[in-house]
Amino acid sequence: TPPPGPDYSVTFKPLDDKIVADTVTVPEGYVAEVLYSAGDKCVIGSAGYAGIPQSYPATETQSGGQHDGMHFYPLEGVDPNQGGLLVLNHEALDNATLDQSVEGLKTRLSNVGVSVVEIARGSNGAWAVKADSRYNKRYTGNTVYNVSGPAKAVVGATVVGTLNNCSSGNTPWGTYLTCEETLNNYHYQAGDAGQPADEGYGWVVEIDPQTPGSTAVKRTAMGRFSHENTAYMLDENNRVAFYMGDDTTPGCIYKFVPNKPYDPANRANNMGLLDEGTLYAARFNDDGSGNWVELTVGKNNLTTGATDPGNFTQVATGTVITGTIVDFNSQADVLVNTQAAARVAGATLMDRPEWITVGVDKTVFCTLTNNGSRKRTSASNPRANNSHGHIIRWHERGDSPLATTFEWDLLLLAGRDAADGVAPNLTGNVNGDTFSSPDGIRVDPQGRLWVQTDAGTGTSTTDFFGNNSMYYIDQKTGESKRFLVGPLGCEITGIAYTPDLTTFFINIQHPNQTWNTLRAGGGDARSATVVVRRTDGKPVGA
Ligand code: FEO
Ligand code: CA
Ligand code: CA
Ligand code: CA
Repeated sequence: TPPPGPDYSVTFKPLDDKIVADTVTVPEGYVAEVLYSAGDKCVIGSAGYAGIPQSYPATETQSGGQHDGMHFYPLEGVDPNQGGLLVLNHEALDNATLDQSVEGLKTRLSNVGVSVVEIARGSNGAWAVKADSRYNKRYTGNTVYNVSGPAKAVVGATVVGTLNNCSSGNTPWGTYLTCEETLNNYHYQAGDAGQPADEGYGWVVEIDPQTPGSTAVKRTAMGRFSHENTAYMLDENNRVAFYMGDDTTPGCIYKFVPNKPYDPANRANNMGLLDEGTLYAARFNDDGSGNWVELTVGKNNLTTGATDPGNFTQVATGTVITGTIVDFNSQADVLVNTQAAARVAGATLMDRPEWITVGVDKTVFCTLTNNGSRKRTSASNPRANNSHGHIIRWHERGDSPLATTFEWDLLLLAGRDAADGVAPNLTGNVNGDTFSSPDGIRVDPQGRLWVQTDAGTGTSTTDFFGNNSMYYIDQKTGESKRFLVGPLGCEITGIAYTPDLTTFFINIQHPNQTWNTLRAGGGDARSATVVVRRTDGKPVGA
């Protein structure tokens, strides 16, 4: 990994305002190339998309839909800047490769989950999927997952399906954490039989992409909520914390601290690390201080007959709130009903916490994408009817992953220019290229902060911001520069890169017009992973 640049600066010429082209637009000197689309061949021997209606189990061999969180892993014996494993989430069904009205439940469930594909760079600099790689694998809504941790006794030893795989994270020991963003299996439709209990979803699921035959594991110790992604901080003693957002209107920010340090010498010793540890939720005090409140049964009011105040920030000040009684009799109760536990313990309800990232200087950033229905504000969520979202950051005390206190401030409020004369909830303070609804966020290994947006794509939004985009943001000045603009209807999500940063992988989710269409004369466009690189071969951004 190259060292951070001296000032984390960028050299690209920012893109124009309000681009609404049906293509991926990148700055001069960069190219964007489609690598892996919904319906593409994944597993060895796959025929790929074979026309509608599709059928199970053939669909289990092809790329799922709605590409989202993603990570690039080196492979032993391969130059990591020339090849490796790309692991990516499929958040939802891609109508470009399915007709949900005629295709059965198992076919639909094939379309969500995770893809593992080996990729390699050709002599012309372009990347391609290696169709014959034994690493290529799908984890889907039909796959069986093991369950571990304190809630195993309640959830069961196995669960069929991972679902709503939003964003993701990696671990110091090289596994992939796919995050389930909803608690229920909404893929079932009228007429489908056998819907399982909803307690099987809403977990962080650990996948070992280097071991193709391995079974993925739902790690219940990390709590059950609308998981967005994970990001870790490691200290000099190999103690680690995993930060996690709950994309709920409103939801809390969490961290999980395993009891044991990560073992860099013996990979196998880390495979149970996520089963034992302490789960916390964040309280952002109005004076800029913060506390991690422990979500352990018996502490912080997590007892039998606890009073859950509910999502009280969604009702007007002065309205009488009648709490709901919730029983926390065991740690399993806390982990199955984590959102209520965080509210009972006094964590702060935030404006939809999406991705979290840990910077090279250990600043932690979280996107709060928007919350159009907030009525009670706080210093950390200062706008009622927050239509465009904001970004919060904090420093752990002593920059330690084990800290139980921190200091926070707001990096920026997204939204329109004050000069537009719009209401305060629509006015942002972004210095440079404005945007709405930050979602993906990542500090790359050279220290550059990137933000991706998921704003509504109706004209009321695109008139002011253009299509959803990716921005570089200077962490000192807050200056924002538009780097990439997606095609019509999409959100931009997923950030992965080779160690030398000469290749970035970005996901285009739910494009809805003619970009990357599959069928001549109709059908939606396909979600896809695109490669972004410079024609001069230098690191992206540098
Ligand atoms: Fe799946 Fe919160 O975005
Ligand atoms: Ca999405
Ligand atoms: Ca997201
Ligand atoms: Ca979003």
